[in-house]
Amino acid sequence: MTQLAGKVALVTGAGSGIGRASAVALAAKGAKVGIGDINDETAAQTVDLIEAAGGSAFTVNIDICSEDAIRSAIEGVTRDHARLDILHNNAAYAPPEVLANDLDILQIPTEDWDGVMQGTLRGTMLCCRYGVLEMLKTGGGSIINTSSMYGLSAFNQMPAYCVSKAGINMLTEHVAAVFGRKGIRCNAVAPSMIATPMLEAAIPAEFIAINADSTAVGYLGEPEDVAQAVVWLASDEARYITGQVIRVDGGTTAHLPTYADANRFFGT
Ligand SMILES: NC(=O)c1ccc[n+]([C@@H]2O[C@H](COP(=O)([O-])OP(=O)(O)OC[C@H]3O[C@@H](n4cnc5c(N)ncnc54)[C@H](O)[C@@H]3O)[C@@H](O)[C@H]2O)c1
Repeated sequence: MTQLAGKVALVTGAGSGIGRASAVALAAKGAKVGIGDINDETAAQTVDLIEAAGGSAFTVNIDICSEDAIRSAIEGVTRDHARLDILHNNAAYAPPEVLANDLDILQIPTEDWDGVMQGTLRGTMLCCRYGVLEMLKTGGGSIINTSSMYGLSAFNQMPAYCVSKAGINMLTEHVAAVFGRKGIRCNAVAPSMIATPMLEAAIPAEFIAINADSTAVGYLGEPEDVAQAVVWLASDEARYITGQVIRVDGGTTAHLPTYADANRFFGT
């Protein structure tokens, strides 16, 4: 419970899914957690969840598409809570209508490509920038960015999403390399398909099953699985881990593309 006692954290996109699970898990270890989201209502629900479990949390309105909003949200955390030790840059710009257009480089409207780069990649960079500026004032901290398996290998669709996540991987290495001697670590988590309520509502069951079949463990991960990696990366126990993209993917990217078909072939 006390592993993160005295630490102040901010998680973006913490009103739902992976961000909410990360915030709940960080609070369970004793951190005071800023619930950063564009949606104040769901952010408040995450605060309620944490407080009901005996933890400490507060809402932070943030829009990762706006530099002013990012700066004021992050500066507000240190103004009101004295420090920022842990920053989980988890939110992505992924409105359903943009994802629906993100089919290949011939079909994606250029403005949607720009929107994804501005929201997901530039937004994560700016969160790192303003997070680093605050962490430098108190001797360092731990930044965790949410990447994706789609940032590691090409997927059949979603070029803008994939490229933005690949950019986050290099951003993670860059921040780690440049600010390591100032006490700042920066890592990323790269989940495979994670079973969130929204995913189950939006993705056909057959495609979810294909993804489960492609894991080594045989089932989809849950937001809490990603959250546990975030908690570890945030903690001093991971003090020698920086610049890494940690695959939280049930082994999905650990094997050959023929893996699922081969399982069927061998009857395994
Ligand atoms: N769910 C998956 O299968 C999966 C897999 C790999 C990576 N990811 C990544 O994990 C992260 C979270 O995904 P999720 O599935 O938990 O999403 P989600 O849709 O459950 O939650 C996203 C949250 O981000 C908030 N948000 C949206 N736009 C925002 C903005 N402009 N500024 C601030 N907050 C904003 C939403 O209000 C919501 O609360 C994303 O970066 C996503 O790319 C998800």
